[in-house]
Amino acid sequence: MTEPAPSSPPAAPRNPFLPRLRRLGAARNLRLASGLVMTLFVATHLLNHALGLISLETLEAGRVVFLGFWRGTPAGPIFLASVLVHVALAFHAIYRRRGWRMPPAEAAQLLLGIAIPPLLVIHILGTAVSARVHGTDDTYAYVLLALWTYDPMVTLRQAAATLVVWGHACIGMHYWLRLKSWYGRARPGLYAGALLLPVFSLLGFVTAGREVAALNEAPGWREDLLAAVNAPAREDLEFFLAVEQWTLAGLGAVLAAVLVARAIRLGAARRRNRVSVRYPGGREVRIAPGTSILEASRANGIPHASVCGGRNRCSTCRVRINEGREALPPPSPEERRVLDRIGVPPDVRLACQLRPGSAVSVTPLLPPNVGPSDGLREAKTMQGEERTIAVLFADIRGFTGLAETKLPYDVVFVLNRYFRSMGEAIEAAGGRVDKFIGDGIMALFGIDTPPATGAAQALAAAKGMAEALRDLNELLESDLPQPLRIGIGIHMGPAIVGEMGYAEAVSVTAVGDTVNTASRLESMSKEFAAQLVVSSDVAAEAGADLSAWRSEAVRVRGRREPLALFIVDDAGDLPPPTARPRPAAAGAGGRESSRRRHSWR
Ligand code: FES
Repeated sequence: MTEPAPSSPPAAPRNPFLPRLRRLGAARNLRLASGLVMTLFVATHLLNHALGLISLETLEAGRVVFLGFWRGTPAGPIFLASVLVHVALAFHAIYRRRGWRMPPAEAAQLLLGIAIPPLLVIHILGTAVSARVHGTDDTYAYVLLALWTYDPMVTLRQAAATLVVWGHACIGMHYWLRLKSWYGRARPGLYAGALLLPVFSLLGFVTAGREVAALNEAPGWREDLLAAVNAPAREDLEFFLAVEQWTLAGLGAVLAAVLVARAIRLGAARRRNRVSVRYPGGREVRIAPGTSILEASRANGIPHASVCGGRNRCSTCRVRINEGREALPPPSPEERRVLDRIGVPPDVRLACQLRPGSAVSVTPLLPPNVGPSDGLREAKTMQGEERTIAVLFADIRGFTGLAETKLPYDVVFVLNRYFRSMGEAIEAAGGRVDKFIGDGIMALFGIDTPPATGAAQALAAAKGMAEALRDLNELLESDLPQPLRIGIGIHMGPAIVGEMGYAEAVSVTAVGDTVNTASRLESMSKEFAAQLVVSSDVAAEAGADLSAWRSEAVRVRGRREPLALFIVDDAGDLPPPTARPRPAAAGAGGRESSRRRHSWR
């Protein structure tokens, strides 16, 4: 007798949108690759223009190198294919759009992209196409002669084309790079380069144009040049103008057809069964099957984080599925990859990838205004996790008296200056300002780093705050009846760290005894008439020798043993930390912080 075949495991619900999602992933990669090729072309083209600042001769020499590469093999065919693919994908993206609500940068990129063909088609026809069809040697002297002497409007159009194309490319690059860990550090340099390149390019263009205009004064120079470059005849130029009109009309017709097809598709989807999506607070929207949760949020004006613009890269759009999870299609491999990277539980999905076919209730997990750094951070933090962190509390001494003697405007002014100085000191040390409470501040250290680093950062922050306060008091000397004084308390230990709050007031914070004790130490700083009270746990973890300061052992609620403290009259007198190299991987925190690390060891 043969044994019965083992029954196969129950099949996972099939994702009807999986093939489509795979195609979208491939389309995104193609769009990025083609965009990179074109950005490289434009950047090198602008660099070539900038050589006009040296001389027309240098400009022409640069052109030989530029064209040798971009009209050669394989760069020439790759560039042409990139242009065609990028344009086709742009139409595809417009067809796929469900609504026109989008972040301003995305809208600017779209509008700049649409403006490119009217500005650039005639330039391409007059240079690359003329070179291939008529054998024209489209030197800079020839092109500048045409631009500077025939029609000033064409010159302006060419200058506008430079800015439009470069702006479109820069926004695309920004969207791509903003999720890279190094981007924050490189951004000032990249921004400066992105601004200077078109400026130098236009200056080179103008300088060389004036040189050509001067040469054109010489009798016979122009005729000799046109003959030497085999310039197209008048009827050829008229033909190019006609081709420009046909090309633009053709692109306009394709765009109109895409918009009509999109309207038909959305209309059909609207007539199909609607799917209910419920949000926290009881808000319910109805969407067509195939609409993503992020699209539903955007179409209905519900604030929803989406740092990468729905490109399945940042994970900031993630939502918890409260109801209806069983009937949802499983994540595509691309979504799965991102979810695995951030380590979320099974009830969390990416809103930009999840296209429910039946009623669902969701809770967005990140506040709508998160930045790129919040994206691929491990999600365990967001869900709640016990971590050993350092907690700092600070408070202004006697602020109530100050508030009573000042106008409300002055109080707000002083407080904002104070918060800015203290916040900058905390962040410079590597900490995170958790919240401002009245005139108090709570800050966390070591959320993404090992405890020793967090402890060292907290002490560095206290020193930085004391120094910043000295500067602030000097600055506000004439505005304050007496200098601001603060009390700081720092303690460390295990705390529950996670996202807490409601709706838009959700943020990563910490709760637990460690937090309460740190707050208590800040209160004690007043009793001890000192600026800083820090537990010996912090000093030991940071490797800081604070034996030169007073020490006390106090009873703190919730602890059996007395807590040993150091009492520091002026936190600015703490020894400066020494920077130490970052270890290859973070310990308790998992993903390594990009912030500074400090140590007294
Ligand atoms: S918006 Fe970035 S992954 Fe969804």
